Amino acid sequence: MVIDNAVRSRIRLELGDITRLSVDAIINAANSSLLGGGGVDGAIHRAAGPELLAECRALGGCPPGEARLTRGYRLPAGHVIHTVGPIWRGGEAGEAGILANCYRSCLAIAQDQRFGAIAFPAIATGVYGFPREAAARIAVAEVLRHLAEHEIPATVIFACFDEATREAYRAALGTD
Ligand code: APR
Repeated sequence: MVIDNAVRSRIRLELGDITRLSVDAIINAANSSLLGGGGVDGAIHRAAGPELLAECRALGGCPPGEARLTRGYRLPAGHVIHTVGPIWRGGEAGEAGILANCYRSCLAIAQDQRFGAIAFPAIATGVYGFPREAAARIAVAEVLRHLAEHEIPATVIFACFDEATREAYRAALGTD
């Protein structure tokens, strides 16, 4: 895949905790209840405080592949975009399409809200078991496609919680 340099320069890989990023929105890898959980979902709710759960309760859940916007409360990020990834069932149950829709749904909200900078965790690659290399390829493909056609968001960060995840994104971006 030939990546336009101007577009590639708008993507950043950061190793660390997404809850510490001071961006317009961080994306939460939630479950369909939107009522919290473990992994990055748990970390975001812990850092944001109880008002986040209160706002999430009022949303009434979210189907896999879709996304919902809330405020960030005590997070440095102004907002949280909650999305629900696919549970990995071997790859023949439409998981790749649902994951691609997660990225598209979040990018559409970011564009609609005119967010300049957003950060994604590696959606569905933890508890939900989606193989991280395949997930990273989907994430990069959807983000590049959006950035090639839209000025907003100006910057997309892939917040990698471990080195293996960062390596998966480096491979997907073709930057070893
Ligand atoms: N910052 C950035 N990334 C993180 C953090 C964090 N603080 N904590 C975990 N991660 C990473 C994981 O290492 C993994 O790479 O987020 C990625 C997604 O993993 P999960 O959080 O397990 O999310 P997912 O696989 O989508 O499963 C969602 O898990 O936590 C529950 O309520 C959630 O039921 C839902 C399910």
